[in-house]
Amino acid sequence: MNMFKKLLCLFILSVGSNADEYKNPIALSAPDPWMEYYKGDYYLVATTGSNVIGIRKASKLGGLIDVENTIVYTFEGRALWAPEIHLIDGRWYLFYSSCAPNTEGNECHRNRVAQSASDDPMGPYTFLADLDDPDDQAFELDPSYIIINEQQYLLGAYWGPTSQNLYIRPMTNPYTPSGAKHFLAAPTYDWEIYGLNINEGPEPLYHDGRIFVVFSASYCGSDNYALGLMEFVGTDPLNSTHWYKHPEPVFKRSDENHVYAPGHNGFFKSPDGTEDWIVYHANAEESQGCGDTRSSRAQKFTWDDDGLPVFGVPEATDVTYEGPSGE
Ligand SMILES: *[C@@H]1O[C@H](CO)[C@@H](O)[C@H](O)[C@H]1NC(C)=O
Repeated sequence: MNMFKKLLCLFILSVGSNADEYKNPIALSAPDPWMEYYKGDYYLVATTGSNVIGIRKASKLGGLIDVENTIVYTFEGRALWAPEIHLIDGRWYLFYSSCAPNTEGNECHRNRVAQSASDDPMGPYTFLADLDDPDDQAFELDPSYIIINEQQYLLGAYWGPTSQNLYIRPMTNPYTPSGAKHFLAAPTYDWEIYGLNINEGPEPLYHDGRIFVVFSASYCGSDNYALGLMEFVGTDPLNSTHWYKHPEPVFKRSDENHVYAPGHNGFFKSPDGTEDWIVYHANAEESQGCGDTRSSRAQKFTWDDDGLPVFGVPEATDVTYEGPSGE
């Protein structure tokens, strides 16, 4: 190979690796993020607080920061929280929490689901069903979807008498609950009760045949908002004693990296399917609360010898990291 060809090769290699880098945050004003990688693109959906749901779409993780939030769904009502999209039998199901029109405050939140017209994550979406339990008019939020032993379940959070807890409900399909909601977990450890007694944002995580639920703990406006880990260790997913909650948080603030109140996450795979990634929101300064200062961030995570996820420390912003494998 002559010198010119060698230089050309080096040039192409360095351009190629630069294209796969990204920085946190990956999206501004994007709390409660959820990410999917599907057929060559990333799709990021997050809380807007309004009556519309938008998705940011880009072929590179580092490209999301530059794209607009395209509206994919407009609904009757207000105060959108915690949207997630799940591909089930060829359609995308958009789970979200919102209040009915002409309501006030937060306690009116109920969980709902909309459906995409095709397998395009950009929709358009149309309303499909309310998912609240008619026998229990509780404040409900943060719907998600999990499959355990081929049975479908709705996951969510609800306010009980003294704390916000997690629930699980059996479903016959993504829009039809087939039974009452069952208590799944309540905040009990010190790290779950900063500001308010809260468990929320339950998210499914599957690995090597094991079933985990990662959830957020404490008040979102506390800098100590953190992620906890539960594992299904029994035979009945509707029985809370068949789940084990780990006694320590698995992801929390890093004062050294200036990351506060990290939480309300989702999971996604790298384009080549070899890496596990977490997407979560956090604040860049102390005491910024539960508003639009929360940006979406993403980072790779690994698994330890016991088969448990290792999320590490929330990474600093404005540092260049290698993007997901296969971009
Ligand atoms: C939940 O599981 C425990 C332990 O297996 C059992 O003792 C209890 O009866 C179960 N509760 C229900 C409601 O099935």
